[in-house]
Amino acid sequence: MSTIDQIDLKKVPKHVAIIMDGNGRWAKKRGLLRVFGHEKGAKAVKETIEAAGKTGVTHLTLYAFSTENWNRPKVEVDKLMNLLVSSLKKEFKTLHENKIKLNAIGNLNELPSKAYKELTEVIEKTKNNDKLVLTLALSYGSRDEIVKTVKEIAKKVKNNIISLENIDDSIINEHLYTQNLPDVDLLIRTSGEQRISNFLLWQIAYAELYFTDVLWPDFKKEDLYKAIINYQNRERRFGKTSEQLK
Ligand code: FPP
Repeated sequence: MSTIDQIDLKKVPKHVAIIMDGNGRWAKKRGLLRVFGHEKGAKAVKETIEAAGKTGVTHLTLYAFSTENWNRPKVEVDKLMNLLVSSLKKEFKTLHENKIKLNAIGNLNELPSKAYKELTEVIEKTKNNDKLVLTLALSYGSRDEIVKTVKEIAKKVKNNIISLENIDDSIINEHLYTQNLPDVDLLIRTSGEQRISNFLLWQIAYAELYFTDVLWPDFKKEDLYKAIINYQNRERRFGKTSEQLK
Protein backbone atom coordinates (compact mmCIF):
# COMPACT_ATOMS: atom_id res chain seq x y z
CA MET A 1 0.00 0.00 0.00
CA SER A 2 1.24 3.53 -0.76
CA THR A 3 1.73 5.62 2.31
CA ILE A 4 2.58 9.21 2.94
CA ASP A 5 6.06 8.13 4.13
CA GLN A 6 6.98 7.16 0.59
CA ILE A 7 6.40 10.70 -0.68
CA ASP A 8 9.50 12.81 -1.30
CA LEU A 9 8.54 16.03 0.44
CA LYS A 10 10.95 18.02 -1.73
CA LYS A 11 9.20 17.00 -4.95
CA VAL A 12 5.53 17.38 -4.11
CA PRO A 13 3.40 18.72 -7.01
CA LYS A 14 2.25 22.22 -6.14
CA HIS A 15 -0.98 22.07 -8.08
CA VAL A 16 -3.05 18.88 -8.34
CA ALA A 17 -6.24 18.88 -10.41
CA ILE A 18 -8.77 16.05 -10.38
CA ILE A 19 -11.51 14.93 -12.76
CA MET A 20 -13.72 13.13 -10.25
CA ASP A 21 -15.41 10.50 -12.41
CA GLY A 22 -17.42 7.34 -11.76
CA ASN A 23 -20.06 8.33 -9.21
CA GLY A 24 -22.87 7.01 -11.43
CA ARG A 25 -21.15 3.69 -12.10
CA TRP A 26 -20.35 3.25 -8.41
CA ALA A 27 -24.06 3.58 -7.62
CA LYS A 28 -25.19 1.38 -10.51
CA LYS A 29 -22.88 -1.45 -9.41
CA ARG A 30 -24.75 -1.44 -6.10
CA GLY A 31 -28.21 -1.16 -7.61
CA LEU A 32 -28.56 2.37 -6.23
CA LEU A 33 -29.73 5.61 -7.82
CA ARG A 34 -26.96 7.82 -9.24
CA VAL A 35 -27.53 10.44 -6.57
CA PHE A 36 -26.18 8.04 -3.94
CA GLY A 37 -22.95 7.89 -5.92
CA HIS A 38 -22.70 11.66 -5.70
CA GLU A 39 -23.32 11.55 -1.94
CA LYS A 40 -20.49 9.08 -1.48
CA GLY A 41 -18.45 11.20 -3.93
CA ALA A 42 -18.80 14.18 -1.61
CA LYS A 43 -17.23 12.07 1.17
CA ALA A 44 -14.32 11.29 -1.15
CA VAL A 45 -13.90 15.04 -1.71
CA LYS A 46 -13.43 15.53 2.03
CA GLU A 47 -10.97 12.62 2.25
CA THR A 48 -8.96 14.01 -0.69
CA ILE A 49 -8.75 17.53 0.75
CA GLU A 50 -7.42 16.06 4.02
CA ALA A 51 -4.88 13.97 2.13
CA ALA A 52 -3.72 16.91 0.01
CA GLY A 53 -3.24 18.97 3.18
CA LYS A 54 -1.02 16.28 4.67
CA THR A 55 1.30 16.10 1.67
CA GLY A 56 2.08 19.79 1.23
CA VAL A 57 0.19 20.23 -2.05
CA THR A 58 -0.61 23.96 -2.12
CA HIS A 59 -3.34 23.99 -4.78
CA LEU A 60 -6.09 21.43 -5.31
CA THR A 61 -8.60 21.95 -8.12
CA LEU A 62 -11.65 19.71 -8.42
CA TYR A 63 -13.91 19.39 -11.48
CA ALA A 64 -17.21 19.41 -9.60
CA PHE A 65 -19.65 20.45 -12.35
CA SER A 66 -19.03 21.07 -16.04
CA THR A 67 -20.90 23.36 -18.44
CA GLU A 68 -22.17 20.12 -20.07
CA ASN A 69 -23.49 18.74 -16.75
CA TRP A 70 -26.45 21.16 -16.93
CA ASN A 71 -27.87 18.72 -19.54
CA ARG A 72 -28.27 15.93 -16.95
CA PRO A 73 -31.74 15.11 -15.58
CA LYS A 74 -33.05 17.92 -13.36
CA VAL A 75 -33.20 15.67 -10.30
CA GLU A 76 -29.47 14.94 -10.64
CA VAL A 77 -28.51 18.60 -11.23
CA ASP A 78 -30.59 19.59 -8.18
CA LYS A 79 -28.92 16.90 -6.09
CA LEU A 80 -25.43 18.09 -7.08
CA MET A 81 -26.29 21.72 -6.28
CA ASN A 82 -27.85 20.74 -2.94
CA LEU A 83 -24.79 18.66 -2.11
CA LEU A 84 -22.60 21.66 -2.82
CA VAL A 85 -24.64 23.84 -0.46
CA SER A 86 -24.86 21.24 2.31
CA SER A 87 -21.15 20.33 2.07
CA LEU A 88 -20.13 23.99 2.28
CA LYS A 89 -22.37 24.53 5.30
CA LYS A 90 -21.18 21.37 7.00
CA GLU A 91 -17.48 21.71 6.23
CA PHE A 92 -16.94 25.47 6.50
CA LYS A 93 -15.58 25.27 10.04
CA THR A 94 -13.14 22.48 9.22
CA LEU A 95 -11.96 24.27 6.07
CA HIS A 96 -11.36 27.45 8.00
CA GLU A 97 -9.63 25.75 10.95
CA ASN A 98 -7.27 24.03 8.54
CA LYS A 99 -6.42 27.35 6.84
CA ILE A 100 -7.94 26.31 3.53
CA LYS A 101 -8.84 29.09 1.14
CA LEU A 102 -11.86 28.32 -1.04
CA ASN A 103 -11.85 29.49 -4.63
CA ALA A 104 -14.16 28.77 -7.58
CA ILE A 105 -13.75 28.90 -11.35
CA GLY A 106 -16.44 28.76 -14.02
CA ASN A 107 -19.52 30.64 -14.99
CA LEU A 108 -20.70 31.06 -11.41
CA ASN A 109 -23.60 33.32 -12.41
CA GLU A 110 -25.35 30.23 -13.78
CA LEU A 111 -25.48 28.57 -10.35
CA PRO A 112 -28.78 28.59 -8.44
CA SER A 113 -28.83 31.64 -6.14
CA LYS A 114 -28.60 29.50 -2.98
CA ALA A 115 -25.44 27.79 -4.21
CA TYR A 116 -23.95 31.06 -5.45
CA LYS A 117 -24.61 32.76 -2.12
CA GLU A 118 -23.17 29.96 0.03
CA LEU A 119 -20.14 29.64 -2.21
CA THR A 120 -19.30 33.34 -2.29
CA GLU A 121 -19.79 33.61 1.47
CA VAL A 122 -17.30 30.82 2.17
CA ILE A 123 -14.87 32.27 -0.39
CA GLU A 124 -15.05 35.63 1.37
CA LYS A 125 -14.67 34.16 4.88
CA THR A 126 -11.65 32.03 3.95
CA LYS A 127 -9.89 34.55 1.71
CA ASN A 128 -6.95 35.12 4.09
CA ASN A 129 -6.17 31.41 4.60
CA ASP A 130 -2.88 30.25 3.16
CA LYS A 131 -2.28 26.54 3.70
CA LEU A 132 -4.13 25.15 0.68
CA VAL A 133 -6.11 26.81 -2.09
CA LEU A 134 -9.10 24.59 -2.86
CA THR A 135 -10.62 25.52 -6.20
CA LEU A 136 -13.99 24.11 -7.24
CA ALA A 137 -14.66 24.15 -10.97
CA LEU A 138 -18.41 24.80 -11.18
CA SER A 139 -20.30 25.34 -14.42
CA TYR A 140 -16.81 25.23 -15.84
CA GLY A 141 -15.73 24.47 -19.40
CA SER A 142 -12.27 25.17 -20.70
CA ARG A 143 -13.41 26.25 -24.18
CA ASP A 144 -15.91 28.60 -22.58
CA GLU A 145 -13.09 30.04 -20.47
CA ILE A 146 -10.86 30.49 -23.53
CA VAL A 147 -13.67 32.18 -25.52
CA LYS A 148 -14.29 34.56 -22.60
CA THR A 149 -10.56 35.29 -22.38
CA VAL A 150 -10.21 35.99 -26.12
CA LYS A 151 -13.20 38.34 -26.00
CA GLU A 152 -11.82 40.27 -23.02
CA ILE A 153 -8.40 40.65 -24.61
CA ALA A 154 -9.89 41.64 -28.00
CA LYS A 155 -11.95 44.30 -26.26
CA LYS A 156 -8.84 45.68 -24.54
CA VAL A 157 -6.97 45.74 -27.85
CA LYS A 158 -9.89 47.58 -29.46
CA ASN A 159 -9.88 50.15 -26.65
CA ASN A 160 -6.06 50.53 -26.82
CA ILE A 161 -5.55 49.10 -23.31
CA ILE A 162 -3.36 46.27 -24.64
CA SER A 163 -1.39 46.36 -27.89
CA LEU A 164 -1.59 43.39 -30.23
CA GLU A 165 2.21 42.89 -30.07
CA ASN A 166 2.11 42.56 -26.28
CA ILE A 167 -0.24 39.57 -26.21
CA ASP A 168 1.72 36.63 -24.78
CA ASP A 169 1.31 33.66 -22.42
CA SER A 170 1.19 35.83 -19.33
CA ILE A 171 -1.49 38.17 -20.75
CA ILE A 172 -3.61 35.12 -21.52
CA ASN A 173 -2.98 33.67 -18.04
CA GLU A 174 -4.10 36.92 -16.45
CA HIS A 175 -7.48 36.71 -18.19
CA LEU A 176 -8.31 33.10 -17.41
CA TYR A 177 -10.47 32.12 -14.42
CA THR A 178 -7.30 30.54 -13.02
CA GLN A 179 -5.37 33.84 -13.08
CA ASN A 180 -4.16 33.43 -9.49
CA LEU A 181 -3.23 29.75 -9.74
CA PRO A 182 0.04 28.14 -10.80
CA ASP A 183 0.04 25.76 -13.79
CA VAL A 184 -1.25 22.27 -13.03
CA ASP A 185 1.56 19.82 -12.19
CA LEU A 186 -0.49 16.65 -11.85
CA LEU A 187 -3.88 15.90 -13.39
CA ILE A 188 -5.71 12.85 -12.06
CA ARG A 189 -8.80 11.25 -13.60
CA THR A 190 -10.62 8.43 -11.86
CA SER A 191 -12.87 5.66 -13.19
CA GLY A 192 -10.68 4.37 -16.01
CA GLU A 193 -11.67 6.97 -18.62
CA GLN A 194 -8.66 8.56 -20.32
CA ARG A 195 -10.03 11.89 -21.47
CA ILE A 196 -9.60 15.53 -20.50
CA SER A 197 -13.29 16.44 -21.02
CA ASN A 198 -12.82 20.18 -21.51
CA PHE A 199 -10.95 20.68 -18.22
CA LEU A 200 -8.13 23.25 -17.86
CA LEU A 201 -6.88 22.77 -21.45
CA TRP A 202 -4.47 25.72 -21.31
CA GLN A 203 -3.34 25.10 -17.73
CA ILE A 204 -2.34 21.43 -18.20
CA ALA A 205 0.14 22.17 -21.02
CA TYR A 206 2.99 20.52 -19.06
CA ALA A 207 1.02 18.57 -16.45
CA GLU A 208 1.70 14.90 -15.82
CA LEU A 209 -1.44 12.88 -16.46
CA TYR A 210 -2.47 10.05 -14.15
CA PHE A 211 -5.39 7.76 -14.81
CA THR A 212 -6.73 5.27 -12.28
CA ASP A 213 -9.52 2.70 -12.50
CA VAL A 214 -10.72 3.57 -8.98
CA LEU A 215 -14.25 5.02 -9.11
CA TRP A 216 -14.40 8.45 -7.48
CA PRO A 217 -16.53 7.42 -4.44
CA ASP A 218 -13.86 4.79 -3.62
CA PHE A 219 -10.96 7.27 -3.86
CA LYS A 220 -9.01 7.26 -0.58
CA LYS A 221 -6.01 9.10 0.85
CA GLU A 222 -3.73 6.25 -0.28
CA ASP A 223 -4.94 6.75 -3.86
CA LEU A 224 -3.78 10.36 -3.81
CA TYR A 225 -0.44 9.34 -2.27
CA LYS A 226 -0.05 6.69 -4.97
CA ALA A 227 -0.67 9.27 -7.72
CA ILE A 228 1.88 11.65 -6.16
CA ILE A 229 4.49 8.89 -5.84
CA ASN A 230 3.90 7.95 -9.48
CA TYR A 231 4.32 11.63 -10.45
CA GLN A 232 7.60 11.81 -8.53
CA ASN A 233 9.02 8.98 -10.59
CA ARG A 234 8.49 10.81 -13.85
CA GLU A 235 10.98 13.09 -15.54
CA ARG A 236 9.46 16.47 -16.33
CA ARG A 237 11.49 17.86 -19.20
CA PHE A 238 9.39 20.87 -20.30
CA GLY A 239 10.70 20.34 -23.86
CA LYS A 240 14.36 19.98 -22.83
CA THR A 241 16.53 16.83 -23.06
CA SER A 242 17.29 14.60 -20.07
CA GLU A 243 20.93 15.71 -20.19
CA GLN A 244 20.00 19.39 -19.98
CA LEU A 245 18.12 18.76 -16.76
CA LYS A 246 21.20 17.33 -14.98
C1 FPP B 1 -18.73 12.34 -12.16
O1 FPP B 1 -19.37 11.12 -11.97
C2 FPP B 1 -18.95 13.29 -11.11
C3 FPP B 1 -19.65 14.48 -11.25
C4 FPP B 1 -20.31 14.89 -12.47
C5 FPP B 1 -19.77 15.44 -10.16
C6 FPP B 1 -18.75 15.45 -9.07
C7 FPP B 1 -19.47 15.67 -7.80
C8 FPP B 1 -19.16 15.19 -6.59
C9 FPP B 1 -17.92 14.41 -6.34
C10 FPP B 1 -20.09 15.38 -5.46
C11 FPP B 1 -20.05 16.58 -4.65
C12 FPP B 1 -19.03 17.60 -4.89
C13 FPP B 1 -18.78 18.64 -4.03
C14 FPP B 1 -17.76 19.65 -4.41
C15 FPP B 1 -19.46 18.76 -2.74
P1 FPP B 1 -20.44 10.67 -13.04
O2 FPP B 1 -21.78 11.02 -12.50
O3 FPP B 1 -20.14 11.25 -14.37
O4 FPP B 1 -20.21 9.11 -13.04
P2 FPP B 1 -20.42 8.09 -14.24
O5 FPP B 1 -19.46 8.49 -15.33
O6 FPP B 1 -20.06 6.79 -13.61
O7 FPP B 1 -21.85 8.17 -14.65
